[in-house]
Amino acid sequence: MALLAGRRAHAENRDAWRARFMDCRARSEALAAPLFPEDQVVQSMPDVSPTKWHLAHVTWFWETFVLAPYLTGYRVYDPVYNHLFNSYYEAIGPRHPRPARGLLSRPGVAEIAHYRAHVTAATERLITTADATTFAILLSLIELGMAHEEQHQELILMDIKHVFAQNPLMPAYKSPAPKTARAASPLKWSRYAGGLVEIGDDGAGFAFDNEGPRHKVWLEPFRLATRLVTNGEYLAFVADGGYRRPEFWLSDGWAAVNASGWEAPLYWQRDGERWFEFTLSGLVRLDPFAPVVHVSHYEADAFARWSGRRLPTEAEWEIAGAEVSVEGNFLDSRALHPCAATGEGLQQMFGDCWEWTQSAYAPYPGFRTSAGAIGEYNGKFMSGQMVLKGGCAVTPPGHVRASYRNFFPPAARWCFGGIRLAEDG
Ligand SMILES: [Fe+2]
Repeated sequence: MALLAGRRAHAENRDAWRARFMDCRARSEALAAPLFPEDQVVQSMPDVSPTKWHLAHVTWFWETFVLAPYLTGYRVYDPVYNHLFNSYYEAIGPRHPRPARGLLSRPGVAEIAHYRAHVTAATERLITTADATTFAILLSLIELGMAHEEQHQELILMDIKHVFAQNPLMPAYKSPAPKTARAASPLKWSRYAGGLVEIGDDGAGFAFDNEGPRHKVWLEPFRLATRLVTNGEYLAFVADGGYRRPEFWLSDGWAAVNASGWEAPLYWQRDGERWFEFTLSGLVRLDPFAPVVHVSHYEADAFARWSGRRLPTEAEWEIAGAEVSVEGNFLDSRALHPCAATGEGLQQMFGDCWEWTQSAYAPYPGFRTSAGAIGEYNGKFMSGQMVLKGGCAVTPPGHVRASYRNFFPPAARWCFGGIRLAEDG
């Protein structure tokens, strides 16, 4: 109830909500600004969506879940867009197949900009003019709409990196590359007593439905590495035949290594004895002190076994993450790539790389999906995926928190997944 009371108080501050909404919309457009129209159409694999599709889909989300039900007299921009830009909402109706999004040369980039402007203006009008009762109801949808658009801002960068990586010109989304460090902080261990602890949404602010209900978990004592695994450390695993030795791999992981021919993280390239890495600043020399990134859960797990350690559980990570402030190398630092840890204490918990856990993405005790199409947002993906924590260098600032549960299938490598080691005791 405290949360609802707090939201009602915030609801009176219309100008602040309007400004946050407008900033969120402007950031999406700023992320697409360095791209040519031709860049924005390419779909390099079924999991990747073209930039312009992301820009249109988040707009469709505002139109479908906020404007159509709540803005009196709202005229839908184009009814066909409901088919083109619905991502996965079965309750809304049939849609264009995901792997074929790259075939949509129309509507063009300019038309989608027009669609965005139409929906942004209407939503701004709704935020400004809705009566107090409607606005109190709307607020959770506005927060969800912004959190959703922020997720797609990260996807825009993840996806264009994959698109550019297919191009022999190795285009840079931005330049220059982040500065390299002379060394990384030594790897130390932070100890936690465990016991009966609570994890999940604490009700202090916006959270996705999958972060709750808050509940108790029993943890044995454990230790977490004070920083992420570096490229240099991962290179030792590669050099030790890590990708050729089945004893380190989960069965499905070993099958993926063999089926896909993995020999190193996605975006690593070898030229003789020298290693390079494709980044959003183009191809750069592999920085041995920067965190390894773009590994699958299988690779993270195999590296941990090779090291004689393990991945943390989601609950272990969250207990540690709740003790540090949500600061780090996020999108606003403009590095767009994880950077070496050079400080003291528990570092890089937030930002830099999403951290693979050994926990399957499953519902918390008492979790129920909400009624209607919006209930499809998270709950229906609770099968065959692993939880990642903490956000990464392309996550918008303010988007994540300790209870945040990201999830990807264990073979996914194009998300900015990295490794933090854990051990018992
Ligand atoms: Fe979406």
